[in-house]
Amino acid sequence: MPGYFISFEGGEGVGKSTQIARLAAALRAEGREVVVTFEPGGTELGHAVRSILLTPGNHVTARAEALLYAADRAHHVETVIEPALAAGKVVICDRYADSTFAYQGAGRALDPAAVRSVMEFAVAGRWPDLTLLLDADPRVGLRRARGDGAGDRIEAEGLEFHDAVRRGFLDLAAAEPERFAVVDASHSLDEVTMQVLRAVGERLL
Ligand code: TMP
Repeated sequence: MPGYFISFEGGEGVGKSTQIARLAAALRAEGREVVVTFEPGGTELGHAVRSILLTPGNHVTARAEALLYAADRAHHVETVIEPALAAGKVVICDRYADSTFAYQGAGRALDPAAVRSVMEFAVAGRWPDLTLLLDADPRVGLRRARGDGAGDRIEAEGLEFHDAVRRGFLDLAAAEPERFAVVDASHSLDEVTMQVLRAVGERLL
């Protein structure tokens, strides 16, 4: 069986982890081998990069931020994602290049063409077969993601930033409707799962 690459995207606190766990279980029940991974931080190198990126108070300029996410991704795609796909597995990745387009491109207002060329270098031709965008108002998700505190370095950004990220994701989905499935993440967990399974089932099962 050929490998299949699914990415999950969305703003803060939209419930990606729960949906990823449920999708992985459903696919395994169908007999597929599934690798669940994430960015930033899905490798040893990525773990160190993640800590630089998310530690509150770290000063990281916007271009450096984009390049650090890109470095994490380049290493992750080559050492984790490509080998799993080559072995015929389904790879489910919590965030991928669309997060950089939305957070650094739209959120930090970096030049979209420059971000795209950095992403092309980082992913070396590997784009997801399917991207599930869990969409919700950041006013709801942020509260959940931050918990009692101010959140990590990115969560601590203001609403204007997170609104721009959300718009960025929706624009990406509109530009590539065949790759994206947009799911309204404000619905119940079970309703969201049903929509996720439907989107995957239409393409994979
Ligand atoms: P996580 O909380 O889903 O693990 O993601 C970590 C944070 O990093 C989250 O706030 C989104 C942000 N992020 C970017 O800004 N650009 C990226 O390319 C990725 C992968 C994540």
